[in-house]
Amino acid sequence: MDLKLTDEEKRMLQGEDGVVPRLCMEYLVELCEVAGADRLIDLDGTGDFHTPMTAMSPFYEFPIEELRKIVEQGAHFKIPTFANKAPFLFQPPVHGWEHCNVCAFQDDANLQSDPAFHEKAMRDEWYELYRRMGMMTTHSCANYLVDTYLPTMGQHCSWNESSAVPYCNAVLGARSNIDGSFATCFLGKTAYYDMHITENRYATVLVKTERLIKSDLEWDVFGFAVGEDAGVHVPCLTGTAKPTTTQLQKLNAAMNTGGAVRMYHIPGTTPEAPTMEFAFGGKAPERETLVGEAELRKAYETLNYHGSDTVDMVYLGCPHLNIVDMMLLARKLEGKKVKIPFYIMTAPWLYDVAKNIGYLKIFEDAGAHLMTGTCLAAMGAVPKGVRTIALDSAKQAYYITGCYPDEDNKLEVCYGSQDDCIDAALTGRWHGEWR
Ligand code: F3S
Repeated sequence: MDLKLTDEEKRMLQGEDGVVPRLCMEYLVELCEVAGADRLIDLDGTGDFHTPMTAMSPFYEFPIEELRKIVEQGAHFKIPTFANKAPFLFQPPVHGWEHCNVCAFQDDANLQSDPAFHEKAMRDEWYELYRRMGMMTTHSCANYLVDTYLPTMGQHCSWNESSAVPYCNAVLGARSNIDGSFATCFLGKTAYYDMHITENRYATVLVKTERLIKSDLEWDVFGFAVGEDAGVHVPCLTGTAKPTTTQLQKLNAAMNTGGAVRMYHIPGTTPEAPTMEFAFGGKAPERETLVGEAELRKAYETLNYHGSDTVDMVYLGCPHLNIVDMMLLARKLEGKKVKIPFYIMTAPWLYDVAKNIGYLKIFEDAGAHLMTGTCLAAMGAVPKGVRTIALDSAKQAYYITGCYPDEDNKLEVCYGSQDDCIDAALTGRWHGEWR
């Protein structure tokens, strides 16, 4: 496909505006080639990307001296830009790192709770320079819940993360692919492809269910099963209750774990689908699929793999907990004492809120640790000696064992509801089951 660039884009590509714009343009041109896009689109929404990556590809990384140079000259991101995850390698927690008794890759070096490592990570120069360019340091995979500034319907964005991109498309009605990077945010441009194009946003697969999907666990399991079935297609979900914000976070993350669902419709809930007819753009579904009892049970069993009912650790907060999640969790933990390590993950911008309202104290009194800005899968670690972990997230359950490639010594997962996980934290035993 012939790529049409504006005169300004051609000038940047030729290096007339300097090294950084040239590398960003080269990256975007390659993105167009891979995506089959014939042009770039100017973004009018928001962006986010994972620090410290300069782009989603290391081939376009530039020396830090070049970044320093443009920052000194007053360079800034073209669109409101948020940080997707904690800075630096091994993505350490922003808060709660002192309690983070994990050893990266299960070696003996407990980097995460080393003050010197934390200090170095938080003062990472790339991160400082991005901040000077205007990056807002949300450091959350669910930054859309703390940004206080969201794109509006139809705006073009460049976001990342499994729970976030469907939130942008299906919940806000804004438009994004999973392509947030330094290049897209700095230039305020991305390839014009996939979810930016109206035609690609219509549903193609009609999903039916046998039970009303209504609890948080049902939404999570359902999302994983739908993702496995839909793959990269746009599903239209029927037979569900109205999802809560937490359930949308879970659904989105789970669908992008089982598959790669950037967009979906729930008639009557998603902004572009007041009715089923709107969801399918007036056309008939290409196919119908049933995510029934058998499919839900299979998904639950795929995510739940443990030989023993003894639980060594509990982890909640994938995707990062919102403030209502924390309120409910505090209510459940008040006056109780956990028996095993219990980590709770949220966005850094909610830490002081949780502290001021009193949730942090309740968690600490119960023996649980509130952390922010990262997750176990991103850190690639659990505390030394942990063999069985209890989780309430399909995404975390799926990815966490990837951190432990040792076939003889695999991490095992008890996957279930948040209540199952709290019970495990209080008793050290797993009593969860699919009902
Ligand atoms: Fe976020 Fe980590 Fe889960 S990035 S969605 S908490 S796997």
